[in-house]
Amino acid sequence: MKHTKIKDLLCCTKPLTDVTAKGWVRTFRNNQFIALNDGSCLNNIQCVVDFENTPEETLKRITTGAAISVTGDLVESQGKGQKYEIQVKKIEILGDSDAEKFPMQPKKHSLEFLRANAHLRVRTNAFGAIMRVRSVLAYAVHKYFQDKGFVYVNTPVITGADAEGAGEMFQVTALPLDNLPKNETGGIDYKQDFFGKHTNLTVSGQLEGETFAMALGQIYTFGPTFRAENSNTSRHLAEFWMIEPEVAFNDLDDNMDLAEDFIQYVVKYALDNCTEDLQFLEQRLIEEEKNKPQAERSEMALIEKLKFVLENNFKRVSYTEAIDILKDSTPNKKKKFQYIIEEWGADLQSEHERFLVEKHFKCPVILYDYPANIKAFYMRLNEDQKTVRAMDILFPGIGEIVGGSQREERYDVLVEKMRVLGIDEEELWWYLDTRRFGTAVHSGFGLGFERLVLFVTGMTNIRDVIPFPRTPQNAEF
Ligand code: 4AD
Ligand code: MG
Repeated sequence: MKHTKIKDLLCCTKPLTDVTAKGWVRTFRNNQFIALNDGSCLNNIQCVVDFENTPEETLKRITTGAAISVTGDLVESQGKGQKYEIQVKKIEILGDSDAEKFPMQPKKHSLEFLRANAHLRVRTNAFGAIMRVRSVLAYAVHKYFQDKGFVYVNTPVITGADAEGAGEMFQVTALPLDNLPKNETGGIDYKQDFFGKHTNLTVSGQLEGETFAMALGQIYTFGPTFRAENSNTSRHLAEFWMIEPEVAFNDLDDNMDLAEDFIQYVVKYALDNCTEDLQFLEQRLIEEEKNKPQAERSEMALIEKLKFVLENNFKRVSYTEAIDILKDSTPNKKKKFQYIIEEWGADLQSEHERFLVEKHFKCPVILYDYPANIKAFYMRLNEDQKTVRAMDILFPGIGEIVGGSQREERYDVLVEKMRVLGIDEEELWWYLDTRRFGTAVHSGFGLGFERLVLFVTGMTNIRDVIPFPRTPQNAEF
């Protein structure tokens, strides 16, 4: 018999006879009340079993984690917090679950424990909610760009390019591991792999994206990205998803406008379409924060924080202004900011970024015009010859959520920059073609999708907002 999603049953407007629901048992109380969840929404449906007329053998098999099918009447519930329940007429056990061994017991588990069980953690309320919000956000990303006429481009995952010039790449080889060609010094010679050239997993689709923007006008990518950086932080993954729009004829100001509008749109979309899940996640956070000292608790509840981002413009500040603010904020030269005080030109550490966003401006900040020497080769050089048209968007509780720039469209300037940095012109001949044939001002940015999901769900560790996190310690799944 066809079954109905629990979400649809719970929003019925009138009682129904003979409905079927299928899902996984969360709890079974007093041999009578099953809390059944099918992932379609946060809430379980209560199924009331006629235990006197149900065989003992079946009752025993209604255990936490078991997959079951129930058929019965949808009736108004006397229970608190639920409009309807199912008066069960027929119950079928689809898949048993040994309640003693099932790791997702009906109690609170630590996030560490859940991470080690990433294949089952999605059966908990919190991870069900996070993954539904993630899915809605992904849809909102596509909707935003498609509605504006951007073309979705799939850039290669295996590539020869190091788009960021930061050397944080996972090598790719098609040769048997025990038979890799060696170079003169006995090391692995990756240059001789299957593609006859050095290949790696992409760190960004930007360079390929730029070539498409220079034909289609407005494009975006949304795909997996890999960084072989050994950073064990709550903000970094070795495999993450990035959204990279690229727009011909946009300068840096247009780029900032686009990024701000885009982020506000997707946050609003989640607020409008994930109300129940976000309310649950907010409540979860409030409970969690009760254990923290007052000073460490967040000033705003989750939904208020999301609305704040929608209702307030992001503060635009140049790198140089930011350095002055940081200097002024530490007249007593607290150790924390000493690094930045030393000299103009240093990269901002995450504590500096968080100071600007959380303590000084108390709103999202767009920092622009960074020193050229701390940014990638493709960014447009300013008239001052020492800063580039870069922008990073910094978010409360997250730090950098977006990195972008106006691109260096002048062939000679770009080639000169590549020479200085030792970037092989021949490797990037195709990229330079965009500057040889019909070059134009253009800009784009990259938004780390998991950092966005972190912000929207209020979670604090990036490993908890991606189904199967890839980090230096965790590649089990
Ligand atoms: O600042 P990034 O390195 O910029 C680029 O890759 C550019 N090519 C983007 C562009 O202009 N098209 O990365 C962009 C964003 C960061 O702001 C951050 O949100 C995210 O990607 N990110 C990571 N997210 C999770 N784990 C990591 N290891 C990340 N590295 C970057
Ligand atoms: Mg960056």
